[in-house]
Amino acid sequence: MRPKVIVNVAMSADGKIALPDRTEVKISGEEDFKRVHELRNRVDAILVGIGTVLADDPKLTVKERFVQEPEHPLKVVLDSRGRTPKAAQIFDEGDWLIATTKEVGERGWIRCGKGDRVDIEVLLEELVKRDVEELLVEGGGEVISSFFEAGVVDEFNVFVGSLVIGGRYAPTPVDGDGAENIDDIMNLKLESHEMMDDGILLRYTRPVEEEKR
Ligand SMILES: NC(=O)c1ccc[n+]([C@@H]2O[C@H](COP(=O)([O-])OP(=O)(O)OC[C@H]3O[C@@H](n4cnc5c(N)ncnc54)[C@H](OP(=O)(O)O)[C@@H]3O)[C@@H](O)[C@H]2O)c1
Repeated sequence: MRPKVIVNVAMSADGKIALPDRTEVKISGEEDFKRVHELRNRVDAILVGIGTVLADDPKLTVKERFVQEPEHPLKVVLDSRGRTPKAAQIFDEGDWLIATTKEVGERGWIRCGKGDRVDIEVLLEELVKRDVEELLVEGGGEVISSFFEAGVVDEFNVFVGSLVIGGRYAPTPVDGDGAENIDDIMNLKLESHEMMDDGILLRYTRPVEEEKR
């Protein structure tokens, strides 16, 4: 059994998640932040890619402003080449794990596969060993793409904010190489939609036929 994988991302009305130079953009508001922090508090681990760590330097904690007595789940970074800065804020509070493809031998670093990038299947096995039953993947687009390609996304939450970022190089929720042909397209089942802040939250799951694959 692997952990349940929930992807959560906020995008503009034109499907971008940051500026073309990868500068962070505030896309949602307080209502959505509260939802995300409650979700973070519910899961066992939160995961981002090194691209997000370098661009945003996130804390990946649960804010007490939104959740009383937060649990602070395990923070996981996909970082094949060990580029996470020592001063990164993810190290400030709570437990963390850096998933890499090199032999590091330091506490908190694990090797997941020998390829160019962290092997998602191996990582999920490692997380099971650490009692992770629910994993929240928060981005960015390259990492989310790998989880979709591995066929392990159980839930996809997209907040669509009322703004346009534009630009052909701005990152999107699912970057990577994308579908090469019609058969590669990944279908979703829309479970719910909810207006919040000045936008809308769309919650998708996998269609039953996808789960059987
Ligand atoms: N709006 C939102 O909700 C939201 C949320 C999060 C991030 N963002 C934005 O997203 C942008 C960062 O996204 P990004 O796509 O550049 O970076 P990313 O997805 O955060 O990280 C990608 C990097 O992770 C490493 N990696 C290791 N194993 C991987 C694997 N199996 N699959 C994919 N990547 C793997 C790779 O670097 P190595 O090869 O060096 O390991 C890769 O370049 C920033 O602009 C940030 O602001 C937006």
